[in-house]
Amino acid sequence: MSERTLVLIKPDAVRRGLVGEIIGRLERKGLTIEAMTLRTMDVALADQHYAEHVERPYYPALRDFMTAGELVSLVVSGDEAIAVVRTLIGATDGRKAAPGSIRGDLSLSNRENLVHASDSPDSAKREIGLWFPELAL
Ligand code: CDP
Ligand code: MG
Repeated sequence: MSERTLVLIKPDAVRRGLVGEIIGRLERKGLTIEAMTLRTMDVALADQHYAEHVERPYYPALRDFMTAGELVSLVVSGDEAIAVVRTLIGATDGRKAAPGSIRGDLSLSNRENLVHASDSPDSAKREIGLWFPELAL
């Protein structure tokens, strides 16, 4: 069943010149880019996007990282896209993520881990509404 998911290519990936590498992996998998924007995340959007993390001890550092530079926001679609993209990006901690995944191949950090992707249908709906309100159902 075709699904849509929200993907962020985080500021560390933009800074490192990995946007093409990451989009290429999504495209080669067979996923479709429905929308794509280069923009920065302000603190208000960070607090909404990471609502379930704002009380965590790491949140101030995460917020500073995510708002410090440009990122690429995308809506990606395809068969079981939500789970497929989560598998492609790998575990949260780049030091532990499996080789072959984006984080496993390209990140050595638990914070600067290159990509965000929605983790469930409810998250995808909520996050697409935040980042691409014109696409929200
Ligand atoms: O992104 P993912 O869903 O894999 O991980 P999460 O547990 O939902 O955490 C969201 C983001 O917070 C991670 O992708 C990291 O960038 C960041 N994080 C952090 O800075 N420090 C931690 N100890 C855990 C997560
Ligand atoms: Mg998460």
